[in-house]
Amino acid sequence: MAFFFVLLLLSMQETTENQQVHLDILAQKGVDLFLKREDRIHPFISGNKYRKLKYNLEEAKTQGFDTLLTFGGAFSNHIAATAYAGKIHGLNTIGIIRGEELAKKWQENSTLKQAHSHGMRFKFISRTSYREKSNPEFLEHLKEEFGAFYSLPEGGTNPLAIKGCEEILRTTDADFDIVCCAVGTGGTIAGISNAAFDSQKVLGFPALKGDFLQEDICKFALKENWELITGYHFGGYAKITEELIHFLNDFKIETHIPLDPIYTGKMMYGILDLIQKDYFPPQTKILVVHSGGLQGINGMNRNLQKKNLPLINI
Ligand SMILES: Cc1ncc(COP(=O)(O)O)c(C=O)c1O
Repeated sequence: MAFFFVLLLLSMQETTENQQVHLDILAQKGVDLFLKREDRIHPFISGNKYRKLKYNLEEAKTQGFDTLLTFGGAFSNHIAATAYAGKIHGLNTIGIIRGEELAKKWQENSTLKQAHSHGMRFKFISRTSYREKSNPEFLEHLKEEFGAFYSLPEGGTNPLAIKGCEEILRTTDADFDIVCCAVGTGGTIAGISNAAFDSQKVLGFPALKGDFLQEDICKFALKENWELITGYHFGGYAKITEELIHFLNDFKIETHIPLDPIYTGKMMYGILDLIQKDYFPPQTKILVVHSGGLQGINGMNRNLQKKNLPLINI
């Protein structure tokens, strides 16, 4: 069994394809747009999650830990990825989940259900307690409860995660003018910015409302080649509208590429809107990082169904 998982891990594609996107608007405006298909690395450890976990898993093992503990919300791609990574690396996983109300109904949530099926144990805490997640005292309490663990912050962003995200861009990506990525905690954009070529500009599209991100990214980004394009968060984290759902479904029909509703869908909506508004001059070559997150669509669809809204086509 262990041999099977090692084979699976080795089969993960570290070098991902840049797929050209063909849409009328791109031809009209003379802009070339490619998607770096990081989402294809693996269904659960996809995109930036693979990059962020790679060196952290090595470190956890080097330090002799047998348990990973991390934090996340109900749809967290990071929770899904950590659970699966723990399973294939032979590490126990503990998820500290935001929202005590989920304790009674986590089985209804497909991200948590999958994570649990991959061996993750949960502790559900209130939103107030969750704000303490970086507080050393809070971590000490968790150690008393669970024993020794290798701790990964929310979203998996730490210096080793940035090191992994610096591997998203390849030397063959040097001829792109602009690199775009979705932003949550800011780790992915920091890694991309550090590795970007001198002539490139990195644009980040936050999935959250608020301006705390700039500061967070500056903790890890070494260059000043990046900018945040706010205004495409659709009301905030995990908030979605009918317009966004139709956009995701139309994009999938036209390009055969699935996007997630929380991060990459909002980013792509923003990029195409900017192209429509002539933000990029003709001949601009844009590389968009598809950071995955597709595992969250099922859970989102469940919520949409309850609200009688159209569903996202998978
Ligand atoms: C699919 C996806 N894309 C982008 C991001 C944003 O990454 P970061 O938190 O490093 O800004 C996340 C969040 O972790 C994500 O799950």
